[in-house]
Order: sequence, then structure tokens, then C-alpha cells
Amino acid sequence: MPQSSPESSYEFTRAITRLPARSIVDGLRAEDIGDPDYAQMLRDHADYVASLQQAGATVTELGALEAFPDSVFVEDVALCLPEVAILMRPGAESRAGEVEHMAPVLRDLYEQVVAIDGPGFIEGGDILTTSREILVGRSARTDSAGIAELAAIVKHWDYHLREVVTPPGVLHFKTDCSLLDAETILATRRLDATGCFEGYRVIHTADGEEAAANSIRYNDLLVMPAGFPQTQERLLQAGYEVHEINNSECAKLDGGMSCLSLRF
Ligand code: GLY
Repeated sequence: MPQSSPESSYEFTRAITRLPARSIVDGLRAEDIGDPDYAQMLRDHADYVASLQQAGATVTELGALEAFPDSVFVEDVALCLPEVAILMRPGAESRAGEVEHMAPVLRDLYEQVVAIDGPGFIEGGDILTTSREILVGRSARTDSAGIAELAAIVKHWDYHLREVVTPPGVLHFKTDCSLLDAETILATRRLDATGCFEGYRVIHTADGEEAAANSIRYNDLLVMPAGFPQTQERLLQAGYEVHEINNSECAKLDGGMSCLSLRF
């Protein structure tokens, strides 16, 4: 891996977020458990941005895109590596147009921006960058052709990419895992059981707390969704500095901590 140090997979200076659109009530979801409360979502989003800033991020906060209900989940439209930003090709048709809104933002911040041209599909939520490799989970949104195109692109910067599998019924690979440090992954048992984390130290989410797996490490801070006390205790015992954010509203759209930002 070309990154300057193992820590560079979670040491960042910048983040990009986007304000939730009121149209978020039309957002994609696997199961309808009710529409999100927009006012609560705005409060949670403000807490989320503040926590990234507390962790050292300069945050570029983009305006809401009403035409794209899921556009608050900016992670899915790009992969931000230290050397290059890569625009994704979302597998969800209603999200394809989000990419052209992110492209100029990244071109302002990066010298090199390239795009997945297709015919394959790939979403950022299926990509976990660790200190040694880029793991990409094949899912309902990300196919082998999209993964192969990304592998060919990142090879130019000496990244090794490994195709793995997002469990059936799970939206994205990172719905079920997060990077905790250079050697350690937080993961659900169902994802770890696929064998994709061999060689890493894995901390499991507690049974019944699978939704805690979508957390983010940003410098010294681990930002996790509130309401998962047993998993939080495991992380505290392991020595991580944990900050909780209410995620009740984004969770109704299958969204979580990683989905809400691009970090680089
Ligand atoms: N609601 C998030 C997504 O399905 O992309």
C-alpha cells in the first residue's frame, strides 16, 4: 500500500458532508419502519459534523439536494484516497445523478479525480480501506465489473484490492464493519463468518447490536451510533475514545456513521 503510514487509513484532515434534503422521506430503504423526522435528522447531522470537527476535520458541508432523497449519504458516490479521488457509479438508479454534484467539489480539493465509467456498478459503502488493502464487498449495489474497474484504477497507486462478499440482505459491506485501527476491525459475527478478515484482529458487535458495526474512526475519535451499550463497552475496554451520535432517523433509511461523510 502506498499510504505513508499504517495510521493513514484513519488519520484525516478533511471531510465532506451534505445536509439532508426534506425529500429524505422518499429515500431508499430495505424495510419501511416509518419516515425519518426531519428536524431530528438535522440535529443529529449537526452533532455528527461537530464530532468530526472535534476530531480535527475541516468539514466542507454541502447544501441539500432535494432531487436526490438519499444524497445525505455522500460516502456512496466517491472513494477518497490520499492520492486520488474516484467517483463511483451507484448501483441504485435513483442515486446515479448524485455523482455529478460531487465531482466539482472533489476537483476543487484534489489534483487527481477519476471516475468509474461502467458498465459495472460500485458504491462507496461497499469499500473498506485498511492499512494494507482495499476490501470491496460485492452486493446488490456493487458488482464484479465495478470492482474490477476500481482495482485497475487503484493499481496505478500500488493499492491492492480484494473482492469480498457483502452478506445477502445487508445493504453495504460497511453496514457490517468499520476500521478501528491499522490492525483491528469492528464487525458483525455474520460478516466475520465469511472469512474476509483473516489476519486482522476483529472485535464483534454484541448480539442484537449489529447496527453498531457502522462506526467511523477519525483520528483519535471513534464515532458510533448511540444505543448499543454492550458494543460500546467492548470498544471502551479495548481503549478506544468513543463518541455517540443519535442515528435513529438515518437508520430508517439504512444509513449510518460512515454513509454521512467522505473522509480524507
Ligand atoms: N437509503 C440509503 C441507500 O439505500 O442508498
